[in-house]
Amino acid sequence: MSKMGFSKFTKEEKIETVIGAFGADKELAKETLMSFWHSDDELQKLFDDFSENSITNFFLPYGILPNVLINGESYNVPMVIEESSVVAAASKSAKFWKERGGFKTTILGTKKFGQVHFTWKGDAQKLVDFFEYNKLSLIREVSPLMSNMIARGGGLLDILLKPREDIEDNFYQVWATFDTCDSMGANLINSVLESLGQHLSRMVASNESFSDEERELHIVMAILSNYTPDCLVRAEVRCKVEELGDFGNGIGAELFAKKFCAAVKIARNDIYRATTHNKGIFNGIDAVVLATGNDFRAVEACGHAYASRDGQYRSLSQAEVKEGAFRFWLDIPMAIGTVGGLTTLHPLAKISLDLLGRPNAAKLMEIVATVGLAQNFAAIRSLVTTGIQKGHMRMHLMNILNQLQANEDECVQAKDFFTDKVVSFKGVRDFLEKIRIYH
Ligand code: MEV
Repeated sequence: MSKMGFSKFTKEEKIETVIGAFGADKELAKETLMSFWHSDDELQKLFDDFSENSITNFFLPYGILPNVLINGESYNVPMVIEESSVVAAASKSAKFWKERGGFKTTILGTKKFGQVHFTWKGDAQKLVDFFEYNKLSLIREVSPLMSNMIARGGGLLDILLKPREDIEDNFYQVWATFDTCDSMGANLINSVLESLGQHLSRMVASNESFSDEERELHIVMAILSNYTPDCLVRAEVRCKVEELGDFGNGIGAELFAKKFCAAVKIARNDIYRATTHNKGIFNGIDAVVLATGNDFRAVEACGHAYASRDGQYRSLSQAEVKEGAFRFWLDIPMAIGTVGGLTTLHPLAKISLDLLGRPNAAKLMEIVATVGLAQNFAAIRSLVTTGIQKGHMRMHLMNILNQLQANEDECVQAKDFFTDKVVSFKGVRDFLEKIRIYH
């Protein structure tokens, strides 16, 4: 093989390079990796080009959460997730709330931020005055980069200079506020910020009222912020307490509401519980974000930062019982889009958006937040009634049965046998061995 870098190799050469790790199973490993290549070469090339050094595709289940009623409209929501029971739990929750009027959502903001970080030596007020005086021409300089966005009603909304001596002496930031309409806008924001930094440096360098030292402005970096507390959506459900119904095992509506609110209160105040609680919310959120070709790392990072906005990491959702009504809601910031990037390139992301009726970014935020709330409701409902393992174990059992290649009849017998028993890999294997002997 030639001495060129790994990234220049063909897919086969890349596989050959790493195949040593599989020892005696080399051929099988190679066959397995290649068996996940798409039969359509053009499509495969599209996937290869999403990232560097790819040698195959990694499948994940693509499921549907049916009949989610949001603001009176019903959606079949696509979810990409590997964790068994997540889609089933959300479906149960969506059905429960559909019978009680559905979910309500509100967009609380759509602004995003970016920052140009720089150092400058001199009287801070002098720079602030200079910035204010030149603000409009700075915005004008970068406007051509955003002409499409401006035509769609968005663009750069404002820029602000913030002295940040609290971080370091002579340290400043330009804060830029954007509306990126239906695109997530990361690339556009970053291009505008880099350009803003260059124009600002140039303007400062050519300002004759500055001393030689003051004409030097050093850019540290220019980058969007993934913390978007003003790109915020609320999803909520409410009903009269008695409409919650009966949950069996002596848990009536009132006790359920009480236990539910207690569970949320614990998650509001205890980081150990809050992390698990919010993980449950992101089970739903990430799955839809992924299915629609959006950046789930950005949404996760932002959500967790928002959960700590008052200095303590708390649950993202809240619950209350007031004047006989149960209310459960989730405020969550997220920067997602329905045009551009993978949303346009990935054929399944495109299908997902078609399935949702081609929502704009705000509508998609509402759908995603709703699924997060539905998921969270399902988890807390199980936790305060039957316990979480009952539902989980059913799916866990199916996974083990699949691993042990149980046939249909064996699956039926196993499901029946384990209805009231703890499921373990050994238990299922022993059970199958026993029934296979007697067969
Ligand atoms: C499991 O993936 C998520 C839960 O642990 C969430 C929760 O505890 O709220 C069930």
